[in-house]
Amino acid sequence: MGCAGAKRIVLLGPPGAGKGTQAERLARHLNLPLIVTGDLLRAAVREGTPLGQKAKAYMDRGELVPHELVVALIREALERIDGEKGFLLDGFPRNLEQAQALEAITPIDVALLIDVPREEVVRRLSARRVCERCGRVYNLLTQPPQRDEICDACGAKLVQRSDDTPEVVAKRFDVQYNQDAQPLIESYRRKGLLLTVDGMGSVEEVFARIIRALEERCAGS
Ligand code: AP5
Repeated sequence: MGCAGAKRIVLLGPPGAGKGTQAERLARHLNLPLIVTGDLLRAAVREGTPLGQKAKAYMDRGELVPHELVVALIREALERIDGEKGFLLDGFPRNLEQAQALEAITPIDVALLIDVPREEVVRRLSARRVCERCGRVYNLLTQPPQRDEICDACGAKLVQRSDDTPEVVAKRFDVQYNQDAQPLIESYRRKGLLLTVDGMGSVEEVFARIIRALEERCAGS
């Protein structure tokens, strides 16, 4: 599938909605460069860069990393890709201020919102495990590894993300998503850019819904 009207896509949704899971599949399917803000930040923390050192405390508390730091990171990432090909941006923007900063860099075609209720977010994130070496994401309930707590891809140990504790998940949902992201979602709705997809059901079901929604949008544009 390809659609000239939907090649600059931002992915929105609460923590644990499955943005990362779907972003990987979607980027492959649409042949779009993928930029994952959370992964860029976690890599900076792991490598101990000046940005990572500043970002860590905010991430551990479930708060947004300061505006200037994140915008600089995204600007750099967007400069590295071929703008003509489009992009899939997971985790940016998260509020109106970030959306304005993005608009100053590039327009977007679609804001794709994966909608999942709070109870499901808590269920998914308490069972999420990630590979400490390659970053592959698992779920002990829905996508378990073949060997207990060991990565299928590289054999390293699976760990829980430090911000997947119940208190931090609650803050990410209630403040970052329910408070900060709602005016952003509303603004994309008003501009006719918002596409909302139900994030409940299996990974394959949600992916099929996303593709259908994008195709319908393309057909209508
Ligand atoms: P980030 O890493 O972006 O976290 P998030 O938005 O909270 O999203 P998650 O990664 O937790 O969830 P996801 O929606 O990608 O779900 P996943 O696919 O893993 O950000 C982390 C932190 O970085 C922020 O708190 C903030 O501090 C900072 N930050 C990031 N962006 C920023 C920005 N723009 N500005 C400032 N600060 C920023 O799926 C979750 C689990 O569910 C997995 O176990 C998966 O296997 C499972 N799963 C997925 N789909 C399904 C399904 N359909 N059914 C059942 N299980 C499923």
